[in-house]
Amino acid sequence: SQIVAFRGPHQGGIATPAQDRLCFAAFDVTTTDRGQLQQMLTSWALAAEAMTKGLTVPGDAGDLESPPIDTGEAEGLKPGNLTITIGYGASLFDSRFGLAGRRPSQLKALPQLPKEDLDPGSSDGDICVQACADDPQVAFHAIRNLRRLGTGVVAPRWMELGFGRTSSTSPAQATPRNLMGFKDGTRNIDAGDAAVMGDHVWIGAEEPQHWVRGGSYLVSRKIRMLLEQWDRDNLNDQQNVFGRAKASGAPLTGKKEFDTPDFSAKDASGDYAIPMDAHVRLAAPENNRGLRILRRGYSFTDGIDPVTGQLVGGLLFLAYMKNPDQFVTLQRILGAHDALNEYIKHLSGGLFVTPPGLAPGADWGAQLF
Ligand code: HEM
Repeated sequence: SQIVAFRGPHQGGIATPAQDRLCFAAFDVTTTDRGQLQQMLTSWALAAEAMTKGLTVPGDAGDLESPPIDTGEAEGLKPGNLTITIGYGASLFDSRFGLAGRRPSQLKALPQLPKEDLDPGSSDGDICVQACADDPQVAFHAIRNLRRLGTGVVAPRWMELGFGRTSSTSPAQATPRNLMGFKDGTRNIDAGDAAVMGDHVWIGAEEPQHWVRGGSYLVSRKIRMLLEQWDRDNLNDQQNVFGRAKASGAPLTGKKEFDTPDFSAKDASGDYAIPMDAHVRLAAPENNRGLRILRRGYSFTDGIDPVTGQLVGGLLFLAYMKNPDQFVTLQRILGAHDALNEYIKHLSGGLFVTPPGLAPGADWGAQLF
């Protein structure tokens, strides 16, 4: 029906089969008034609920003397499975709003990871909003209107548009390809599997802050792909970087996309068929004590670098997990050893907690404070 339920035990946009398009924004709170922040979050929840139903932001009186409450560009468009997912950064729980006692236990600055030099100005933020929809204008409209409602309370810190979801999160979806031309999401978590989601994605009873149980931690990374360099690499090497065949997506030890990789198999020359530094070998749960994350990223492009003339594009990596240590563990290994590192560069990132979904009558202001 193109409408994803806004209320429920979990927020939309996590277990929801990944939509085609993304608009993601992070905001800093500029007011010092706790009441104003709470009020804005309440208004955001009501607006988000309306927009996900394909309705305009509520409250418009049609007054000719005032700017319309809804900016209007989504009128007449289908809801497009819009989901609006809110998250909070560690900085929101500092001394400003009396929220220090509500800080989720795992929401803290990530440690320095191998070979990383992230730009702090386009990283993190007090609040993030992930809007996903099958229509880019619907996703953009959602962020724009929350921003408008937040005037005087929050200021945008960074924003990114995403296209071509780079992960399937449901077996019903064909696996899409990332900008390197490889199928991405083949061995992702099936977000429809409640047991797996409970084990790896939803924050559970281990978290002392009851209010975030049923939520999830979101790690974002803007990862540039050095596309000109990649496009000069031969096919054999490209396949060895991932450990998978480019056309079929099959592991280098199999024939079909969903064949299970065999990490012990050797080729004729006695080397591992899936090389020691292949992305999938290093990231696979078999080699990381069963560790898994839900990847829900999108491709992005920021156009052409004015200095070098090179394409600026890559993966806006978004991943959900019950504890950010899952990302840290993986990225410690990938950052140090992944063959992919020759062709990518992590530009910026964020860590947020996304609270659980809202019950009828609840709103984000009341949930946080
Ligand atoms: C698997 C691409 C960054 C974690 C894969 C696959 C591709 C891919 C093509 C194989 C298909 C699949 O199972 O989905 C990329 C690209 C990246 C990137 C192009 C950067 C631009 C990352 C990062 C992490 C990560 C930063 C986590 C820290 C994983 C995991 C798997 C995977 C857990 C599944 C491995 C398995 O179970 O076989 N990635 N990835 N990836 N990637 Fe990445």
